[in-house]
Amino acid sequence: MNASPALSATEFTSERLRLRKAHDADRDGLIELQTDPQVRLYLGGPRPRSAVEQRLDAIGTANVTNKPGTFVIADKRTDQLLGTLVLDRRSPDLPGHVTEECGELELTYLLRPSAWGAGLAFEAATAALRAAADELPDQPVLVVTQTANERSLRLAALLGFQRVSTFEAYDAEQTLAAANLHSFKA
Ligand SMILES: CC(C)(COP(=O)(O)OP(=O)(O)OC[C@H]1O[C@@H](n2cnc3c(N)ncnc32)[C@H](O)[C@@H]1OP(=O)(O)O)[C@@H](O)C(=O)NCCC(=O)NCCS
Repeated sequence: MNASPALSATEFTSERLRLRKAHDADRDGLIELQTDPQVRLYLGGPRPRSAVEQRLDAIGTANVTNKPGTFVIADKRTDQLLGTLVLDRRSPDLPGHVTEECGELELTYLLRPSAWGAGLAFEAATAALRAAADELPDQPVLVVTQTANERSLRLAALLGFQRVSTFEAYDAEQTLAAANLHSFKA
């Protein structure tokens, strides 16, 4: 497919947000994203806090965003962690693709519940997709989300993703939606 696997930027800003790599001070926020029942409702349920803490200890909090295209979403003013955003390649091993080669760009987003309802995920996703559109050739970008996850589907639709199909995975119906990367050029 394309030689540039993901977004090379390690930090960028929007009106209210800074997308950046993780710091040690993000530990509590990262734990909340993995253990909060509301955040994990359509993502396989909350993970046990002890397992999340052990994993962070093993990897090192500041290393959890080492992979290109993986970011903490932080408040630009306070630098507090509000969520995470990942724009990387969807594994060919997973169902839900729009090309034969698979490995398309895929967008995922998680916000702490206290940050929901303010357009922050929309703002973070728009900034990331614009940065990727400026750097990478045009290509499909995917969002895969449980069909029951109305907030996530609303956000995908607002960003301009079109529903492609549905499929079953993890005992639930998933919706596959896609957009052309260059539709996000500023
Ligand atoms: C999916 C998720 C990120 C969506 O968060 P969100 O805050 O609803 O998303 P948006 O950024 O699109 O914000 C939309 C809301 O902000 C409001 N809003 C306020 N100011 C706004 C602005 N400037 N621009 C856009 N929307 C704005 C909208 O009216 C809407 O409110 P509503 O939900 O009360 O209708 C969040 O629900 C979440 O983290 N869920 C758990 C994790 C998950 O399931 N992720 C999906 C995996 S891909």
